[in-house]
Amino acid sequence: MTEVGSGHKAGAANAVAGGAVVPPLVVEHVSKGYEVNGEIVPVIGDLSLTLREGEIISIVGPSGCGKTTLLNTLCGLLSPDSGRIRWHGREVTGQPQNVGYMLQKDLLLPWRTALGNAMLGLEIRGVAAAEAEDRSRAMLDQLGLHGFADHYPSTLSGGMRQRVALARTLVHEPDVLLLDEPFAALDFQSKLLIENDTASLVRQGRRSLLLITHDIEEAVSLADRVIVLSKRPTRIKAVYDIALGAERTDMIGLRQSPEFSHYVRRIWADLDVVLQ
Ligand SMILES: Nc1ncnc2c1ncn2[C@@H]1O[C@H](COP(=O)(O)OP(=O)(O)OP(=O)(O)O)[C@@H](O)[C@H]1O
Ligand SMILES: [Mg+2]
Repeated sequence: MTEVGSGHKAGAANAVAGGAVVPPLVVEHVSKGYEVNGEIVPVIGDLSLTLREGEIISIVGPSGCGKTTLLNTLCGLLSPDSGRIRWHGREVTGQPQNVGYMLQKDLLLPWRTALGNAMLGLEIRGVAAAEAEDRSRAMLDQLGLHGFADHYPSTLSGGMRQRVALARTLVHEPDVLLLDEPFAALDFQSKLLIENDTASLVRQGRRSLLLITHDIEEAVSLADRVIVLSKRPTRIKAVYDIALGAERTDMIGLRQSPEFSHYVRRIWADLDVVLQ
């Protein structure tokens, strides 16, 4: 087991789970750049990681280092320039099956109710209307939105809208969730509640989660591993195995523990942020 608070350097995230278990996601030496005025600007340097079944990985890194580009590449919206991405052991062209991707913005359809928005993914997948409605209502209830199914987004708070977006992402029961700063716009209290709900839904369902966040405390409190990225062209700078146990019900107490602060301080140091 890794010593509490110790980070290990690039490459350590590549370890594949032992035995015959095929990890849901394996990324090998992926690079990606954008063409700007006829020149390629490298954004992802050379990045490898493995997301294991049931694992939560948080990714933190400087603004503009390429985190969203990475998620867009993983879920097939962009193609890597080099390297391989394997979902459940196979290279996939286009969007992988059973992956839920939630953008930073909630992007709810304003003309649909909370229920209508939550049902969207199931409708697109051709699930019968009655079943889609039942499952979506149950998911809204589970995320604390009982009684709000018929509300339009304009009549919901920011936190509630995020929950609807999360319900839409979770209701088709993806094996893997890719979340790009999903809780960034929320106040502290809403954030704690929705982080808690998300982590328990992921853990109960043995799903895997790759979470991008700027919030280091959020990264540490939720994850089994935190990956710190370097600035652009991004690479893995350090990896932390978070030995705080899987049952993290007391999120406030957890944040006050010395082990927690130790991880947070180490990650801040890795990010090399200079506060004036
Ligand atoms: N479509 C694009 N064309 C050209 N450059 C792009 C494009 N999208 C992003 N970039 C550039 O690539 C770099 C990485 O952008 P990206 O959005 O992946 O960063 P990020 O780590 O998610 O940033 P943030 O933390 O601010 O969300 C930035 O310098 C950005 O300007
Ligand atoms: Mg981003």
